[in-house]
Amino acid sequence: MVMISPSLLAANFAILGDEVRSITAAGADLLHLDIMDGHFVPNLTFGVPVVKALRPVTKLPFDVHLMVENPDLYVEPLAAAGAEMITVHVEAALHLHRTLQAIKGFGLKAGVALNPATPLCTLEHVLSELDLILLMSVNPGFGGQEFIPGTVVKVASLRKLLQAAGVAPAIAVDGGMNRKTAPRVIAAGADIIVAGSAVFGAPDVKEAITALRGEHCR
Ligand code: DX5
Ligand code: ZN
Repeated sequence: MVMISPSLLAANFAILGDEVRSITAAGADLLHLDIMDGHFVPNLTFGVPVVKALRPVTKLPFDVHLMVENPDLYVEPLAAAGAEMITVHVEAALHLHRTLQAIKGFGLKAGVALNPATPLCTLEHVLSELDLILLMSVNPGFGGQEFIPGTVVKVASLRKLLQAAGVAPAIAVDGGMNRKTAPRVIAAGADIIVAGSAVFGAPDVKEAITALRGEHCR
């Protein structure tokens, strides 16, 4: 079944602990944590201390999406803070293979994120290292943006490419996911849906998560 990873970026930052408890109770599978440094993307969010502070609040695996200029700086501190998965951008990691090795060296799952304009061929030489491939379906930096429709074809191409290569990292899609767009990328082969505003902005968080999976709970 497809997994839902609510993005904390859309939560109420004044009550982060309560927000995390809420999506845990509502049946989320992972917690997506968007770390931005104001350099790789034109926005700042939060850093390792927030990840650490939230660790005792939930048992959900922490799916950290690093949108920073130098991801290597954060691998060890994030491992110590309790992250389970770290995803770095192929556009930011100067020595991508080394960074992935470092993540796995701490016993964590390693992911690579691709911006909308970045082709799938950039993954060719690291495919066997990956637990997760995150396709951005908006330009990274902000929540609440509109889904880029070309992502559907990109997901389908990635699914084919992985089959041909005989590897099986999870495919995640991040940005503009809602109850209309999520079923389209799921049908194309996505395993994980990352959603911020569609979850935290919903009046009924449990219903929102169920709807993103393409199921109906009532
Ligand atoms: C954007 C982040 C996303 C963001 C998604 O750079 O990577 O995780 O929170 O937000 P929505 O679901 O509102 O598009
Ligand atoms: Zn993200």
